[in-house]
Amino acid sequence: MTSYWVQTSRAQPYPVLSQNTVADVVVIGAGIAGISCARELARTGRSVIVIEARRVLKGVTGNTTAKLTSLHTLIYARLAGSLGAQAARQYAQAQQDALAHVRATVEELGIDCDLEQRSAYTYSTDADEIRAEVEAANAAGLQANLVTTTGLPFPVVAAVRLEDQAQFHPLRYLHGVIEDLQRHGGQIFEDTCVVKLQPGTPARVTTESGVVVETGAIVVATHFPFHDKVGLVTRLVPRRELVVAAPIPKDVDPEGMYITREQGVRSVRTAPHKRGERLLIVTGEIYRPGTPGVSERFDRLTEWAQRHFPIGQPSHRWSAQDNDTTDGMPYIGTIAENVYVATGFGGWGMTNGVASGRIIAGEVDGTPMPWAGLFDPGRVHLKAEAGELLRNAATVTKHFIGDRIQAKRDMVVEPGTGDVVRVDGAPVAVYRDPDGTPHAVSAVCTHLGCIVGFNDAESTWDCPCHGSRFDVNGYVLQGPAVEPLEARTLPQDWMAGRISER
Ligand code: FES
Repeated sequence: MTSYWVQTSRAQPYPVLSQNTVADVVVIGAGIAGISCARELARTGRSVIVIEARRVLKGVTGNTTAKLTSLHTLIYARLAGSLGAQAARQYAQAQQDALAHVRATVEELGIDCDLEQRSAYTYSTDADEIRAEVEAANAAGLQANLVTTTGLPFPVVAAVRLEDQAQFHPLRYLHGVIEDLQRHGGQIFEDTCVVKLQPGTPARVTTESGVVVETGAIVVATHFPFHDKVGLVTRLVPRRELVVAAPIPKDVDPEGMYITREQGVRSVRTAPHKRGERLLIVTGEIYRPGTPGVSERFDRLTEWAQRHFPIGQPSHRWSAQDNDTTDGMPYIGTIAENVYVATGFGGWGMTNGVASGRIIAGEVDGTPMPWAGLFDPGRVHLKAEAGELLRNAATVTKHFIGDRIQAKRDMVVEPGTGDVVRVDGAPVAVYRDPDGTPHAVSAVCTHLGCIVGFNDAESTWDCPCHGSRFDVNGYVLQGPAVEPLEARTLPQDWMAGRISER
């Protein structure tokens, strides 16, 4: 499952970090937040190293829908109600600043990344919530308005419209940013997994092969931070969403970026495609990683897209993952001496990723952005987030304890499917590939011990607690886990496809 962005951008290999070294700044994670931050800091004259555990720009950033907008569904009414008008205003300023920064960067560097100006819309069948969002967005300084007609091929009751927003090809943009980073002396390494991080002066990171980098500042931009001194693990809620894309004739382009939180969330945009066509990109079906029935979700999303637009089977399918936070705002800033983090973008990683680069670079440089305090990872808004904190804790407990109890004791695993079964009293994740070959690994996530669930659309083991993902042989595809799932031996009667607890 390769995203359109990955398929249509050049993949450039980067070396493995193989020698101890020293740098002013080490950025861990080469997605939009890490690359943006690295470039900002390299331009201040600092030596910067970026270290990526897998491939550069192939993680969450390579699977986005790439909307550059300050309209984040219904966030302004939520923030104004829970954290106050000032918080909503500063959130809007940070997003608008990020959008302007991308435009300025594209212009300055001459990046060819299909940057297109578009209006953003949030639509709903509840006119009152749209009215409230328009009011809150206006109070936050955005020129939003309420409309009842859009470019969508179906009627909406009401929508918030925010003009002068944008969409782009995120990987072409970031390849241009990387070139500028390298021009300023920045170095990038991939297939290099950091396993230890030591705050202090100097701070240090250690890779799995034992290479040590001494540095003045570490930026953890790994999506879900693996170093957590401020309890983010309890305040981040992982979510996955699915994407289908297919060509449509230009004359049915809805010419906007749309989202509704109804029907499991539906988001629509288009991108340049072949002559006479646009690529329709539909996103939705938000769910917690590890939840069964992903293929059915893809089918539902495809059926919705086919019902509203003249498309056949999707030309592309992919999926994305992000983290919500318990108070609705990203965590961007310092978490320990000379250690900074950027996470919890709530599905809005394009502007929040760029904003992260601006905020952290400002803090490292001693020139903080005016809204930096709003995103402080150490903040506590107990009143605003108590409900979400409790819900998240209950869900994690259910997956930690309940899923162990529920592991099946007797089952048949059909070719092409996977399930968790008890073997010698321990939960084992068993996948049988289409030719019948079994792959068995421990079902206990190596992050904090929850039980993984099978993703039948991508043939992966996904952890519901904090979103780690593994392939069928246990290899880590996505953190916070850094260790693979351990290999397991299956009982004798496996060849019949049946597994019974011994
Ligand atoms: Fe934390 Fe699996 S990701 S327990």
